[in-house]
Amino acid sequence: MFSLLAANAQDYSSFHPGEIWKDTDGVPINAHGGGVLFYNNTYYWFGEYKNEKNNSAEHGVTCYKSTDLYDWENKGIVLEVDPVGSGSEIEAGCIIERPKVIYNEKTRKFVMYFHLELKGKGYDAARVGLAISDHVTGPYKYIRSGRVNPGKWPANMTTKQRESKITSSDVEKWWTPEWYAAVNNGLFIRRDFPTGQMSRDMTLFVDEDAKTYHIYSSEENLTLHIAELTDDYMDYTGNYIRIDPAGHNEAPALFKHQGKYFLITSGCTGWDPNPARLLVADDIMGEWTRYPNPCIGENSETTFFSQSTYIIPVQDKKDAYIFMADRWRPKNPVDGRYVWLPVFFNEEGMPFLDYQEEWDLTVFD
Ligand code: GAL
Repeated sequence: MFSLLAANAQDYSSFHPGEIWKDTDGVPINAHGGGVLFYNNTYYWFGEYKNEKNNSAEHGVTCYKSTDLYDWENKGIVLEVDPVGSGSEIEAGCIIERPKVIYNEKTRKFVMYFHLELKGKGYDAARVGLAISDHVTGPYKYIRSGRVNPGKWPANMTTKQRESKITSSDVEKWWTPEWYAAVNNGLFIRRDFPTGQMSRDMTLFVDEDAKTYHIYSSEENLTLHIAELTDDYMDYTGNYIRIDPAGHNEAPALFKHQGKYFLITSGCTGWDPNPARLLVADDIMGEWTRYPNPCIGENSETTFFSQSTYIIPVQDKKDAYIFMADRWRPKNPVDGRYVWLPVFFNEEGMPFLDYQEEWDLTVFD
């Protein structure tokens, strides 16, 4: 039977990085800075619902659903912001970025973490927000937001670093050797110790042993942290580490392959793309080693004009991971594009990314 819906419906059998990607209703997908949860044989893509004017959250977090990763059905706004004037922490006009959802088998709750900036405060709040739901497609209930692990020291910070008396006023000029040394030695950790550590760009990772981690840009976006979550995913255990101090990593996307942990990140240049980085570890709680840009070929120096957001393990395929990135359009944020690429491995087992104008899942066979 002919229907309007069918006439508009998209039916993809390949990925087209950077092109407009329509949902099954024929409407461009609006799920930026996103992440994907695999649950009940289905992929759920969560992301920022962007508007045409600015980066503020006027609606909330969206969810799309797919069984083949090509065709996505819009499940709507699953975490809604509160109305203007409500005074709530997630009042319309706040900033909600990089939402990620995981499922807790023990509590049977879907747990969403996101980067939250309070309305009218620019990027000063640097908080992580938490919302939960009984159903994957929501509605998600906002629980709280805050900084991370107040009153707790990172496991890989020495006693000497913890007790140092150096403060920002001793090293006022950024990017000098003295300043680098001070940041490396925990300048901002000590400053934020009482109130908790800053948390901006972020992702979540559930390990094979079910231990779960929040990975976030902290310390004025200078240093990444990995913080372990409690069994119910609702809080932190207090165990956390700093990685690549003063390395200026944003946009963390983590995956595990053959026992090794790989983190793809970007540098910090706002909405402008820059060369990606690769960090590798045998143990998620460190040591992490930084490697150069894993992108090869033309436009590798801008990560193919994009910035990482998540890495999707493809189900039922061996060693198959999709690098998920955003091509931001800050002048018209809703027109930001998605760049999804297959992760390849070289002979040393190191991941690399090579641009494909069009590709499908058979690259993994
Ligand atoms: C980017 C970051 C985005 C957003 C933006 C704001 O570097 O990855 O998530 O925060 O900066 O300028």
